[in-house]
Amino acid sequence: MKLFESPIQRRSLLVVAGATALVASMPRILRAASVDKDMRLAPAPGRVPLLGGNRPETDVWCYNSQVPGPEIRLHQGERLRVTVRDGLKQDTTVHWHGIRVPNAMDGAPYVTQPPIEPGASFVYEFTVPDAGTYWYHSHAHSSEQIGRGLSGPFIVEEPAPPAVDRDVVWLLGDYRLEPDASIAGGFDNPMEMSMAGRIGNTVTINGRVPETFAVRSGERIRLRLINGAPARIFGLEFRRHRPLVVALDGQPIAPHAPEGGRVILAPAQRIDLVLDMTGKPGSKATVADTFYKKLSYRLVDIAYTDEPPLRTTPVAPPAQLPRNTMPEPDVANARRHLVTLTGGMMSGAGMGGMMGGSGMGGMMGGSGMTRGSAMWAINGVAMPGDDMAHLKPALTLARGKSYILTIDNQTAWYHPIHLHGHSFRVITRNGESTKYREWRDTVLISPRERADIAFVADNPGDWMFHCHILDHQDGGMMAVMRVT
Ligand code: C2O
Ligand code: CU
Repeated sequence: MKLFESPIQRRSLLVVAGATALVASMPRILRAASVDKDMRLAPAPGRVPLLGGNRPETDVWCYNSQVPGPEIRLHQGERLRVTVRDGLKQDTTVHWHGIRVPNAMDGAPYVTQPPIEPGASFVYEFTVPDAGTYWYHSHAHSSEQIGRGLSGPFIVEEPAPPAVDRDVVWLLGDYRLEPDASIAGGFDNPMEMSMAGRIGNTVTINGRVPETFAVRSGERIRLRLINGAPARIFGLEFRRHRPLVVALDGQPIAPHAPEGGRVILAPAQRIDLVLDMTGKPGSKATVADTFYKKLSYRLVDIAYTDEPPLRTTPVAPPAQLPRNTMPEPDVANARRHLVTLTGGMMSGAGMGGMMGGSGMGGMMGGSGMTRGSAMWAINGVAMPGDDMAHLKPALTLARGKSYILTIDNQTAWYHPIHLHGHSFRVITRNGESTKYREWRDTVLISPRERADIAFVADNPGDWMFHCHILDHQDGGMMAVMRVT
């Protein structure tokens, strides 16, 4: 059994441990008591106008009666306390995606905490070490809980944020709605689970099917994009505009135009853009999503107001954002591990013996397939569903050491792979050095692609490592990395 430490329990343990321990930890306790923001999140059923207009509302599961959940915004280095009370009919947790929190605050059910049961509460408390664009979401029954609305934006501001006229957050959602606007059931069905995942039919920006995005000519916008969709990958074209990418997954990068003019955003990834609104007053431009060739659509129209331009001389290009606090991995001396991704449909030999097991059998039989069946594996082991913490860690890493993980996607499908508790540099793809050696917490790996990621394993604990296509995660593409 693992001892689950909440801050409260730790304090009482210190008291019984004797006077010396108590005195030594006094400053820590005092500091822990002063938080900069103290808030509540109440995951519960709700009803929201996803479609807007006079179309019917949608029954969702959401935080504080809204989709997305309330924006959490702090300054770098501040401390947050969030009391989460479960108002759902099932267990839940909250994960602070991309934020390097202490392990006990990470919200991985059975691994870092017991799940929060209906009616029960859990207090998360941590300091935010790095600036950037992050998000929070449920980490229990992820496919259904996030798929029904349990996510929200989490923004950490730089000490001196770059000069822009507006800081705008777009949390992109994707729902599968029935004609009556209700959310379709059938989460974690084996057919979708073994392919691209549950891609919906209704894309939302901040919980609403968007009509237009109103802008003023001449203004500079920092647009923080968050992909909160369960499975959909976005490829956004800002037609007649030249967005510059300034951060990936919250981490600064040299400002540059996206490759091929398209902003690729896989589930759980974030991208900060600097967008200069160079159109004329009264004009319009389309933001299109063209990622899936046969499923291109207009996401939203940028609509210029009739106001005169905010400025007439162009603004200087944006400077690179100040770097965050991750230690630099020692790539030359790093220890190496191979991480294979296998499973799914049409993946050939990469499936190994796994698909001969219960997963495929159940699928072929058309029945007997229950949620959490093993369709996918990491290093040959499937971790379907949340209650799998008894499985051995896939890798045990020495605290403070540098590592390079070669993630080898042997499947026919895309996988956005997320490591908890750390950010890593993506240093090679298919053996070629990457141009920017970008920091990420979620790396999109194409079918049959291999990517090397490098990082210092500096955050002790058991950390989830999984695909963020949520039915792939539920279908087994999840593992634990232990840092000790
Ligand atoms: Cu965004 Cu394991 O999570
Ligand atoms: Cu996947």
